[in-house]
Amino acid sequence: MSRIATIEIDGKKYEFPVIEGTENELAIDIKTLRAVTGGVTTIDPGYKNTGSCESAITFLNGEEGILRYRGYSIEELAEKADFLEVAYLLIFGELPTKEELEKFHSDIKSHAIVDEDIKKILDGFPKAAHPMGVLSSLTSALVAFNPTSVNVDSEEEMYNAIVRILGKFPVLTAWAYRKQAGLPLDYGDNSLGYVENFMKMMFKKPTEEYKCNPVVVDSLDKLLILHADHEQNCSTSTVRIVGSSNAGLFVSLSAGINALWGPLHGGANQAVIEMLEAIKEDGGDTKKYMSKAKDKSDPFRLMGFGHRVYKNFDPRAKIIKVSADKVLHELGVEDPILDIAKGLEKEALEDTYFVDRKLYPNVDFYSGIIYRALGIPTDMFTPMFALGRLPGWIAQWREMRLRKEPIGRPRQVYIGETYRSFKKVEDR
Ligand code: ACO
Repeated sequence: MSRIATIEIDGKKYEFPVIEGTENELAIDIKTLRAVTGGVTTIDPGYKNTGSCESAITFLNGEEGILRYRGYSIEELAEKADFLEVAYLLIFGELPTKEELEKFHSDIKSHAIVDEDIKKILDGFPKAAHPMGVLSSLTSALVAFNPTSVNVDSEEEMYNAIVRILGKFPVLTAWAYRKQAGLPLDYGDNSLGYVENFMKMMFKKPTEEYKCNPVVVDSLDKLLILHADHEQNCSTSTVRIVGSSNAGLFVSLSAGINALWGPLHGGANQAVIEMLEAIKEDGGDTKKYMSKAKDKSDPFRLMGFGHRVYKNFDPRAKIIKVSADKVLHELGVEDPILDIAKGLEKEALEDTYFVDRKLYPNVDFYSGIIYRALGIPTDMFTPMFALGRLPGWIAQWREMRLRKEPIGRPRQVYIGETYRSFKKVEDR
């Protein structure tokens, strides 16, 4: 049965089809709204009610706390798959066979070096530069070294661009850190797994052998899987909208990195730790900060709490919390900040302000604690998020291009001055 939505404006009725997704989500298709009404538009700042596309990549139900990539639950993927398998699944739609996975990894490895001249660009950044700025700049710079734009009608060209960026991005991420840490720039070791290799590229000291702890690798692998996609969030929408002008993959990704940087999005993982540290410095009084978070005249918000879509526990937060406990135990780390985090979580979950507004811990509430335990500095947390989100951005960009979506160009409702005539400066 086809459904119809009727909009009545000034007594005139207009009908629009209601489409249904595979998970029974309904959406009013208003593609013809302006044409049939003579220019009436919709307004929805922050796109809280607006679907920008149809997508077959990620399903999430914020009310029930469900997250699935290509139909597979995040819990099952985090437990049974590794990050590269998940990357392949997100990008190409199906889990890879053993042969496909091996080829994928081997193709990625064959691109795991970047042009030596990239080092000169990195050299120009001050040591104190935020690594997100460095990462987005270097990702853009890659275009200069790989100037041919991808012919999206060629699956082969698309595949090559994808494995190229999946190979080079961990190198750039590790270099952004090594520059800051004053360590020599190094390449990885292609005999290692993707995540293990990344850890080595980050932390290997020139004077000693680097040994990876499997518990740490497993935990980082999980973190990357949990961050790999989250449908049409701020950075992903940015990647799609930049790509919709037919801009190339790498520059679209660079734009996504910048969008991710903000503290209301990926930057929240850094903001959480900074908040927890501030609470610790201030004597550890969680109640004081709970009151500040609830005080409407105080701009302070409990970072790592609340989510635009989840009005229930963020399923990723549950998995990360368990992983954080495991890693801290394995590494023998006792972090007073974890106690503050647990205290805040307990208080918030029992507080009517948070309960009424359905504000639960989100993915970033515990991820920073793991990164900290691994020795990753606070301002590298968001680049770590970017590394995890990379396959999702690529998958969404690819989908948008394959579906030949039109250029993204929202409308507005103008509320400025109406026509007025110009006065010369001496007459004003
Ligand atoms: N602390 C205190 N109050 C909060 C918080 C918070 N963290 N989050 C939301 N609220 C309150 C708001 O003040 C508002 O209250 P009101 O209804 O009395 O005015 C209500 O809850 C709804 O909040 P909105 O800002 O309208 O919710 P929105 O969906 O626009 O924002 C967001 C979601 C940005 C994530 C918000 O919850 C927030 O700022 N959280 C802290 C930052 C954070 O952790 N971001 C990471 C998100 S996850 C990610 O991007 C990977």
